[in-house]
Parts: sequence; C-alpha cells; structure tokens
Amino acid sequence: MTHSVYNSLTTTATSFISPTLVLIGFVSVLPILYIANLYCRYKRYQTATPWSARDKVVVITGASSGIGEELAYEFARQGAILILCARRTDKLADVEKACREKYGASQVTIHKVDVTRDSDVDRLIETIDATHEKIDCLVLNAGVSMGEALEDVEDFNIIKNIMDVNFYGSAMLTYHALPLLKKAEKSRITVISSLASVMPFIPMRTGYAASKCALRGFFDSLQTELLKDNIFITIAYPGIVKTEINNNRLGKNPKNLDFSKAMPADECAKVIVDGTIKAHKEIVFTNLGKLARVLDGTFPDLLFHISQNYITKQISVEKKFE
Ligand SMILES: NC(=O)c1ccc[n+]([C@@H]2O[C@H](COP(=O)([O-])OP(=O)(O)OC[C@H]3O[C@@H](n4cnc5c(N)ncnc54)[C@H](OP(=O)(O)O)[C@@H]3O)[C@@H](O)[C@H]2O)c1
Repeated sequence: MTHSVYNSLTTTATSFISPTLVLIGFVSVLPILYIANLYCRYKRYQTATPWSARDKVVVITGASSGIGEELAYEFARQGAILILCARRTDKLADVEKACREKYGASQVTIHKVDVTRDSDVDRLIETIDATHEKIDCLVLNAGVSMGEALEDVEDFNIIKNIMDVNFYGSAMLTYHALPLLKKAEKSRITVISSLASVMPFIPMRTGYAASKCALRGFFDSLQTELLKDNIFITIAYPGIVKTEINNNRLGKNPKNLDFSKAMPADECAKVIVDGTIKAHKEIVFTNLGKLARVLDGTFPDLLFHISQNYITKQISVEKKFE
C-alpha cells in the first residue's frame, strides 16, 4: 500500500469514525447528563421555594400590550401587588382596570416609563422604594423588533434603538433595582428573551437577535453573582406569540411573522409565571426550541440548516400578516 493510499484511507476512516464515535458517546452519556441536570434543577428549586405570587411586589415592563399585558393578568389572578410600566399610559389604564375588575387585583399602579430613559427609571425606583420598599419580582418584558435585511436598513440607529430598549433598558433597570430586589426574600428577575437567541439564524432580525443574545450573556453572568443573595433569574425564550409585535417593528418596510400558528399570549404568560414561581433557570418554548437548545454548540451546522428551513418560512416576504 503506497503512502498516499494509506493516507486517504486513514482520512476517510477518521472522518467517518469520529462523528460516529461522537454520536455514540453523546447518546450513551445523554441519560446521565439528563439526570444530573434534573438534580441541579431540583437543588435550585429547593432553595428558591416555597414562593408564591400572593402579596408579592411584581414590576412588569411593557405591560401595555401583548405578553406583558397577559403577564399582568396572570400575576393579578395569583394575588400579586402590581406595578405596571410602559410608555402608553392610556393602554396601561385599561390593563389596570382589567386587573382589578376581571382578575381581582387589589393593588395596581401604572407608571409611564420609557426603559431607555434614565430619569424615568430613577423615578420608578424612587417611587417603589417610597411605597413598597422592595421588589419581589422584576419582569423585564419591554421590547421592540425589526424586519429588514441589514442591507435594506436605511438608518443604523434602528439597530441601536433595539439594543437600547431590549438590552440596555433591561440591564439598566436591573442595575437600579438591585437594592430593592435584595430587600425581598427569594426575589425573582424574569427576562423575556426569545428563541431568536437560542437559534439566532433568523434573517431580517440581526439587531433583534443580537439584543436577545446579549440579554442571555448578561443575565446568565448576573445569576452567578446573585445566588448568594438568593435572587433567582429566569430567562424565557418564547417562540412566535400572537401580539402587537408585528405592528411595532422598526424600519420602513419590515417583514412580519406569520401568526397563523402563533401561541396565544395568555398561554405564553401562564408558562412564564409558572416558571418564575418555580425559579426555572430557563423556559424554552416549542419542541423546535428545545431541540435547538440541545443542538446548539454541538451540531451548529445541522441547527443552522433546520433554522433556515423552518424559520425563513415563518417570515412574510410578500405581504404583511395581521
Ligand atoms: N411576539 C413574539 O412572537 C415574541 C417572541 C419572543 C419574544 N418576544 C418578546 O416579548 C416581549 C413582549 O413583546 P410582545 O410580543 O408582547 O410585543 P408588544 O405587544 O409589541 O409589546 C411590547 C411592549 O414593550 C413596550 N415597550 C416598547 N418600547 C418600550 C420602551 N422604550 N420603554 C418601555 N416599554 C416599551 C410596549 O409598550 P409601550 O409602547 O406602551 O411603551 C409594549 O407594552 C418583547 O421583549 C419581545 O421581544 C415576543
């Protein structure tokens, strides 16, 4: 056997055997890793509970519509003291009314807060400090999205605005809220990220995916800092949820998501509130999202292929969906 034939056979065998061995190894250790993960989750649950939303001070950003509005209703149902924030106070007033009259909340206040404005955030924290002296649960939900390929974005400030609202808005509010979160027992921070950060291969969402990936980095790191204070961070990664987000996309001609199979916002909110109470480290929505979480980092090319074929079909290129 010549040297070159030997080399080519070895290369072929190695390229075949390596992925196969990796796959067999991966599949055989999977049950052990699964059980180890369950154990870690159980330990965290033990430390973080008992905890219920009843009489807890819950602050929700972006509570004027969509997921934030439904989170307000779900927390109201569970007896929380609600502090609802957004820029549209007329919409917030409607949500407040429904929380009281339909869902039985006894303490609800609304606050005009643009999460990108330091002065609004300072005022909110001062008010909460004066009235409740603590925050039991901070829900970081305010967000905006986009819908254009980067080359079609006319003004780069769109990308900066998305980072400002989705990332810096949530990070800044958390920074200022920390002293009040520390005053509560076993307090929670719930971050509404997106599957766009679990499988960030979605076209026309560059700035959005970046902002949601940034949230993950920031809050995963923060969790390690805050465990000593018994503050539990839950990051939720919803898939496509039927809300007003299509109407609010930044840009001149944004392409929307097909909502025909979208999850109803109230269903999404229920899962998030339940995960918050149980202090799940993360809540990944949809079977595809769960699969992506496993494939991420191990089989990136396969995940990219799946994302391309699945997600691209969900984006309307020709028309706007309602
Ligand atoms: N819908 C989906 O398919 C989906 C999927 C995954 C993740 N998410 C995430 O879920 C969160 C809620 O979105 P949604 O789908 O419920 O959309 P939505 O109905 O458009 O709600 C967005 C909320 O954010 C608030 N907001 C926007 N800019 C703000 C600012 N500068 N300061 C304060 N509040 C601001 C809006 O209130 P005002 O305009 O009154 O300020 C509104 O209440 C977002 O973070 C979004 O990225 C949504």
